[in-house]
Amino acid sequence: MQRLNSPEIILALDVDTLEEAESFVGKLYPKIKIFKVGSHLFTAYGPKIIDLLHKKGAEVFLDLKYFDIPNTVAQAVAAAVRLKVKMLTLHISGGQEMLKAAVVSAKEQARALKNPPPLLIGVTVLTSQKTNSREVLKLAKQGIACGLDGVVCSAQEGAMLRRKIKNNFIMVTPGIRPDASGEDDQKRVATVSQAVKAGSDFLVIGRPILKAAEPLLQTEKMLGDLSRSAGCH
Ligand code: C5P
Repeated sequence: MQRLNSPEIILALDVDTLEEAESFVGKLYPKIKIFKVGSHLFTAYGPKIIDLLHKKGAEVFLDLKYFDIPNTVAQAVAAAVRLKVKMLTLHISGGQEMLKAAVVSAKEQARALKNPPPLLIGVTVLTSQKTNSREVLKLAKQGIACGLDGVVCSAQEGAMLRRKIKNNFIMVTPGIRPDASGEDDQKRVATVSQAVKAGSDFLVIGRPILKAAEPLLQTEKMLGDLSRSAGCH
C-alpha cells in the first residue's frame, strides 16, 4: 500500500447530534477533508450522517471497529463499500480468517460497483488501554500479512512499527494532544509533531478540536504544527 506524500488530520466527529456534526463540518471543511464517524454517531443516525458528509464534499472514515465471525464482517464491509467510505476499521484480534474475508469482500464489492476499495485499517490495541509494544507489533504484522492497508496504533508505537515492518503500510494515530499533558482517558498520547516523526499518515483528533473554545483556530494551529513537522520530516 502506497503511503501518502504528507500526513493528514482526520476529525473524530464524536458528537451527539446531526446538527452538531453539521456545524463542525461547516466550520472545518475543507481545512479538514476527512471526518471519522464512530459508533456514537452511526448508532444514532446511520447512513444519513455519511450522506451528509459526502454532500458537503468531505470523505468518511467509518470507525465501527468490526469484530465478528468472518461472514458477518465480510457483509458489513461490503455494506460500507456501498456507502462509499474512504476507510474503515476492524479489530485485528478478530483473527486471520475474519481479516482475509474482509479484504476479499472489500475488493469484490468495489469491483462490482467500479469504485475504489476503501482502505482497511486494523485496530491493534486501543489507545485507552495499556499494552506492551510486542503485542502491538504482533497484531500489526498479522493484519498486514492478511492484506490490510494499514493499522491504528498510538504514535508512541509508530516509530517501532515503521522500523520493524518492512512493508509499506498506512499508519493511523489517535490520541493526539496539543501538548502531551492533558491525557483524559487516552493513556498513550502524543503531539502532532511526535506523531509525524513516528511516521503517521493520518492523525485522528477529536476532543482537542471538538472541545476547543475556537475549533477553527485550534484546527489551524494543529495544521500549522502538521505542515511544519512534515516539512522537516
Ligand atoms: O477525543 P480523542 O482525540 O481522544 O479521540 C480519539 C478518537 O480516536 C476517538 O474517536 C476514538 O474512538 C478513536 N480511536 C482511539 N484509539 C484507537 C482507535 C480509534 O482512540 N485505537
